[in-house]
Amino acid sequence: MAKSSSNKHWLIRQQKDPYVKQAQQSHYRSRAVYKLIEIDEKDHLFKQGQTIIDLGAAPGSWSQYVSKKIGKKGRLIAIDILPMDPIANTLFIKGDFTEQPVVEQCLQAMNHGKADLVISDMAPNLSGIGATDQARSLNLAELSLDLAKSVLKQGGHMLVKLFEGEGTGVYRRELKEHFGKVIVRKPKASRDDSREFYILARTFRL
Ligand SMILES: C[S@@+](CC[C@H](N)C(=O)[O-])C[C@H]1O[C@@H](n2cnc3c(N)ncnc32)[C@H](O)[C@@H]1O
Repeated sequence: MAKSSSNKHWLIRQQKDPYVKQAQQSHYRSRAVYKLIEIDEKDHLFKQGQTIIDLGAAPGSWSQYVSKKIGKKGRLIAIDILPMDPIANTLFIKGDFTEQPVVEQCLQAMNHGKADLVISDMAPNLSGIGATDQARSLNLAELSLDLAKSVLKQGGHMLVKLFEGEGTGVYRRELKEHFGKVIVRKPKASRDDSREFYILARTFRL
């Protein structure tokens, strides 16, 4: 599809999308929040006072939701390559999570404390080449797991976005080595034509 025609297609889809309208009315920065809300309603992830790390946080709808759920006593660290407008009770780190200094900054911010949850909605810049995008997404998921292994408290959870394809089975098996339960979620707000899905890994074993 030519670029102008695909932009037009995107615009029409956005205008028709009920989640886009709902997000605007509820002052969420992205329709992506409804994926997290659906998962949370089913799996009851967030509670007051928790410590959460949100990877790939911009423009910030997941962080907006989590910040409200964990309240003033909670702690939220959000990371993204792109800038993000401030959110209450949230420390934002701007940087590329695939780079070690950014991971170090996150660990320093944790100050040897432990997290209840690591959530990642990180998605690579899509090249349109399915296998390339899928491999990049898997790499981001692997790095999220590395962080989760070093910061999660016993019994903590990780929610991570993935693209269907090669290597996801191996990734799920790896998760099973560290977590009590590994569940796949495809929320309604995740478009049917998108290969994305989420894995919820529950009950981390130290
Ligand atoms: C789908 S968006 C996240 C939307 C977000 N959950 C929300 O509710 O607003 C994916 C984000 O991942 C970020 N991202 C992709 N690769 C990244 C990386 N290597 N390091 C940090 N952020 C990354 C992108 O910049 C983008 O903002």
